[in-house]
Amino acid sequence: MVQKLDEIFNDFKSKIESLDKAADVLSLKATVIGKKGSLAEILKSLKDATPEERKEIGPKSNQIKADIEKMVVAKLQQIEKDEIDKKLAENTIDFSLTDSIMDKGLQAAGLHPVTQIQQEIEDIFISMGFDVLDGPHIEDDFHNFEALNIPETHPARDMQDTFWFKDMKHLLRTHTSTIQVRGMESRKPPFKFVGPGKVFRCERTDATHEMCFHQLEGMMVGKDITVGNLIYFMKTLLREIFQKDMEVRLRPGYFPFVEPGFELDIRWKKPGKGESKHSGWLELLPCGMVHPNVLKAGGIDPEKYNGFAFGLGLDRLVMVKYMIEDIRHLHSGDLRFNKQFKMY
Ligand code: PHE
Repeated sequence: MVQKLDEIFNDFKSKIESLDKAADVLSLKATVIGKKGSLAEILKSLKDATPEERKEIGPKSNQIKADIEKMVVAKLQQIEKDEIDKKLAENTIDFSLTDSIMDKGLQAAGLHPVTQIQQEIEDIFISMGFDVLDGPHIEDDFHNFEALNIPETHPARDMQDTFWFKDMKHLLRTHTSTIQVRGMESRKPPFKFVGPGKVFRCERTDATHEMCFHQLEGMMVGKDITVGNLIYFMKTLLREIFQKDMEVRLRPGYFPFVEPGFELDIRWKKPGKGESKHSGWLELLPCGMVHPNVLKAGGIDPEKYNGFAFGLGLDRLVMVKYMIEDIRHLHSGDLRFNKQFKMY
């Protein structure tokens, strides 16, 4: 009988080794130490054993039971670990993705030229101490018009054809000047920030008009800010973008949220042959001194503080920089176009 016990145990040991599923391990365990298992069978026939045998078999079968239980626990842990290792091995991430894509003859993506110029301009302004703010595409009447000194009956609302939502209270922002209002609401003067993003107008598209384009708003508010400060920041920006000093001029321009308002032009000459229709003054960005009503709407006392604001058209800047003749190329998704602006 003692020998039988050893056989059972050895048999169990060799069988468990080859198993790799938890369910199989548990059923093997049941066949040995379960209620109807082989160990129970032996204990049942204990009554036929001699007293010496009984003395030996009792502790031995207990020992075997304990050993089997330990082995089962260890085996189950091992199986769980193996499964995790297997899953991890299947999910490995190929960090050399760029290379492997190239090996397969595919092209890695680059940033769109508008994104590139936006990031470049953000960096220039960050280096001059400006914050970079964001704002929602879906706006309300207050942030897009009312707070910018454009009340409901103001004819200037017609300057920007607007996509209204059915409730006639919400709209797709027509300009990033909404970020001026949100910026004023969230900070106290003095401050300076830029706010880039998409803007939407209900326009017929042509070579110079798109329904969705990109602007970068800028605002500086403090004590005794002058047009001189505005020109300084604009010239610094243009020098960084074009990598040379740019000649600028201000013409009067009308926007309800600035007073006085200007159009800033740059002296522009198409590289290559002499004077052409592409040479001369090029209208680049509208700007001006923030209207007192706008400061008031943003919770700022116009008796104590003043400031400037500007709205740079990013698509236009990309077109000037790379001499692109049609704004629709920018949204065409045409890879032949996009590939020309890769940054590596
Ligand atoms: N928000 C104006 C537009 O989109 C541009 C602008 C911004 C003008 C800031 C003056 C000051 O047309």
